[in-house]
Amino acid sequence: MGTIAIYPGTFDPITKGHSDIVARAAGIFDHVILAVAAATAKNTAFSTDERVDLARQVLAEYKNVEVRRFEGLLAHFVRDCGAKAVLRGLRAVSDFEYEFQLAGMNKKLVPEADTVFLPTTENYSYISSSLIREIASLGGNVAEFVHPIVHAALTERLGKRQKA
Ligand code: COA
Repeated sequence: MGTIAIYPGTFDPITKGHSDIVARAAGIFDHVILAVAAATAKNTAFSTDERVDLARQVLAEYKNVEVRRFEGLLAHFVRDCGAKAVLRGLRAVSDFEYEFQLAGMNKKLVPEADTVFLPTTENYSYISSSLIREIASLGGNVAEFVHPIVHAALTERLGKRQKA
C-alpha cells in the first residue's frame, strides 16, 4: 500500500484549514488516513459518527484519502494501520510546544512512526474548530472557512441550539 500517514484530530468540525493539510499530504504520501478521535476530553458539538461523516463528504474527491474513527491511544491506531507518519498542521508558534510534546510522546509509544508537520497555508492560520463553532452559534458567517456541507450542518446544529 506504500507509505501511510495518519492525520489525527477531533475535527469538530473539519475546516478548510484541515482539508488544505489533507490535500497537500495526499500529494506526498501514498495513503492518508484522517483519524477522528472518538474519545476526547473536548465537549464536541458533533458526535463521532457525524464528524466522520462530514469529513468523508468533504474529502470524497481524494482517492488516496480515507476517513476512520479511532478509540483510545493514537499510538495503537498508528501501529495497527502500519503507518510511518503522523501528520500535524502547524498554524502558529503557539502550536509548537504542545505539538512537540505530543510528537515526543508518540515517538516513545510507537518508535517506527515519525511526526511530520506541515505549515498551514497563511489564509487558514487563524482558523480553529472552536472559533468556527462560536462564530456560527452567535450568528456570524463562517462560509469562507468551511465546506458548504459543513456550513449547512453547523447552521442546523448551532442555529437550533441558539433558539432552545
Ligand atoms: N487548520 C485549522 N485548524 C486547525 C489546524 C489546521 N491546519 N490544525 C489544528 N487545528 C485546530 C483544530 O481545529 C483544533 O481546534 P479546537 O481546539 O478549536 O477544536 C485545534 O487546532 C487542535 O486540535 P486538533 O487538531 O483537533 O487536535 P486535537 O489537539 O484536538 O487532537 C489528538 C489531538 C486527538 C491527536 C490527541 O488528543 C490524541 O492523540 N488523542 C488520543 C489519545 C492519545 O493517544 N493520547 C496520548 C497522546 S501522546
